[in-house]
Amino acid sequence: MSIVLVTEPEYRKAEAVFRGAIGLDCRPAPADEDDLALAVANLGVAQVVVGTQRYTGALYQALPPGGVIARFGVGHDGLDKAAARARGILCCNTPGVLDATVAECAIGLMLALARHLAACRVTVVDGWRPRLGRELSGATLAVVGCGGIGRRVAAIARHGLGMRTIGCWRGSSPSAGTFDADTDSFAKAVRDADVVSLHIPDLLANRRYLDATRLACLRRDAMLINTARGAVLDEVALYDAIAGGALAGAGLDVFEREPYAPVDPQRDLRQLPGVLMTPHLGSSTHEACTRMAQAALRNLALAIAGRCDEMDLVH
Ligand code: 8YV
Repeated sequence: MSIVLVTEPEYRKAEAVFRGAIGLDCRPAPADEDDLALAVANLGVAQVVVGTQRYTGALYQALPPGGVIARFGVGHDGLDKAAARARGILCCNTPGVLDATVAECAIGLMLALARHLAACRVTVVDGWRPRLGRELSGATLAVVGCGGIGRRVAAIARHGLGMRTIGCWRGSSPSAGTFDADTDSFAKAVRDADVVSLHIPDLLANRRYLDATRLACLRRDAMLINTARGAVLDEVALYDAIAGGALAGAGLDVFEREPYAPVDPQRDLRQLPGVLMTPHLGSSTHEACTRMAQAALRNLALAIAGRCDEMDLVH
């Protein structure tokens, strides 16, 4: 039976699936690159399942040509595809299976911000001070990035909450019935938006996509949601916008540095009451984790069977 090393946090998220894998001996392993590479080399392993950590060197040297790095998740910004290619290692991901879960997280952050839900807990414990919030029904949502997750967010917002939805991304052709309007202009998309939700991948071209200039296009009373990647947002510019009253607040599940550490120690987002932060749990439901594990194992089984063209390969 082939041994598959699964980074510890991902193994724990779907232990039953990994334990029950047919024909594969899945074992938890350290997520740290050097430690993982050492375990790969010691056990002669050809296949690993990994989370969102960055793998930049040792892992590609430790795996044999034909080996596989399977992402437990969709974003593959942590993998060095050129290094993998150079060593003949395949990289794959699990697209689609987490869309509903991440979209629900984005909607949850939106509702929590609009109604001060996180902050209100303390007003029940220490007194009884209801706060006025904002109704989302009839409000406008700009969805930046119209892949599976963005479209799902728009569908819930439009059909569930009665929001007006605007889709935005390059050459955007969002599905009919999900968006009330679409544009490839960021400034136009966010001009009237009460809420802006980011769903773009962490490609080099998207690094700090939402910078001070683009943030200035948002309404002062707008709320920003980020469940995509921390790197697509300039956290320093975001801090300045919220602290300076140029933006109402933000619901953030992802950060440039995880666990969160401020990029600029003078601008710690944790200090701002208008910022709601969660620890990158967008895809963390039992259902999505089960599906991600199954999809990752399916990719590995396909590689073993030599059916690489059927894998969810990323390049
Ligand atoms: C992680 C994610 O994969 O899919 C992604 O790109 O960011 C997450 O869902 C997951 O949390 C790793 O355990």
